[in-house]
Amino acid sequence: MEIQRNIMDYDTVSLDDDNSAVVIIDQTKLPGNIELISLKTAQEIWDAIYLLQVRGAPAIGVAAAYGIYILAKGIDTQDYDTFYAEFKKQKEYLDSSRPTAVNLSWALNRMEQVIIRNSDKTVPELKQLLKKESIKIQEEDIRVCRTIGEYGLSLVKPGDGILTHCNAGKLAASKYGTATAPIYLGQEKGYGFRVFADETRPLLQGARLTAFELYASGVDVTLICDNMSATVMKNGWVNAVFVGCDRVAANGDTANKIGTSVVAAVAKQYQVPVYICAPTSTIDLSTPNGDAIKIEQRKPEEVTEMWYQERMAPEGVKVFNPAFDVTDHSLIAGIVTEYGIARAPYSESLKEIFAKKEAI
Ligand code: MRU
Repeated sequence: MEIQRNIMDYDTVSLDDDNSAVVIIDQTKLPGNIELISLKTAQEIWDAIYLLQVRGAPAIGVAAAYGIYILAKGIDTQDYDTFYAEFKKQKEYLDSSRPTAVNLSWALNRMEQVIIRNSDKTVPELKQLLKKESIKIQEEDIRVCRTIGEYGLSLVKPGDGILTHCNAGKLAASKYGTATAPIYLGQEKGYGFRVFADETRPLLQGARLTAFELYASGVDVTLICDNMSATVMKNGWVNAVFVGCDRVAANGDTANKIGTSVVAAVAKQYQVPVYICAPTSTIDLSTPNGDAIKIEQRKPEEVTEMWYQERMAPEGVKVFNPAFDVTDHSLIAGIVTEYGIARAPYSESLKEIFAKKEAI
């Protein structure tokens, strides 16, 4: 298969020209085919999030924001209460598509706040304000990821080896990604990083997405199987691990793609620092610790049947398929946010990050 090198020219998520659809790259088709699909109905948006056609915490948030705007635009009433009640129904529906990435409810709540704060406005005015807010959420995502990249870059030096797990890249956000932001900024400056991308079973986000986008960007990326991280670390090839996250709890415990905690435990063994790249939209101070994070369980077929066309495991075998795991805060060297790098003790430093945010 010839790799298409232009994935970076496409928007992961966007609003179409006549504001009637969310346009996404269907990530289930990558890297073989770059296909854009338009989502118009609540069902289409919900399915796209659930099926991981659009995935990665920030991208889910942006898709949900555009999605709820489009659904709100279609609400046929001039009455505030009726409009708000219907909005809430659609919002709750979209919010039920995936449980772990807090950006989904974060973006939807932010959109709801627009309606709550503007109860004196007409319904057409509210629709305009919702459009503005959804665009703002995406523009902020781009700025935030770039800033995370700048802070992340201060943690490594030219020529370093960086390992990443899953895809916290441009395909998981609007531009730069979170964990890949230091890599892309380093690439702009000629840092010559050597990146190791874990394949990330069962859905292979590392192989299909991270390796694809980094390779397309000219980054020196090596794809490894999930069980190889100890070997590359033992060989001394990795100076830092950068990963994204789906929800950071108040004590620093971090949910990210299943397998992240294994990487963190291995990194501890080889004294490699693990950095979580976390926009504040992914930090949830109302969740006290990792035990309180709901971990999505996904269907067994992702484990038994999605390697090739044919089944790769015995019929009827029991399957455990959590989509995420929680990395204990004790294994994390730093949480890189757009307001600086939080260090242990995280229950203090994360509060300070939010205090900084509020002060701006
Ligand atoms: O199931 P996915 O593909 O949505 O999981 C994505 C991840 O775990 C990412 O690392 C996380 O959302 C951060 S994306 C910047």
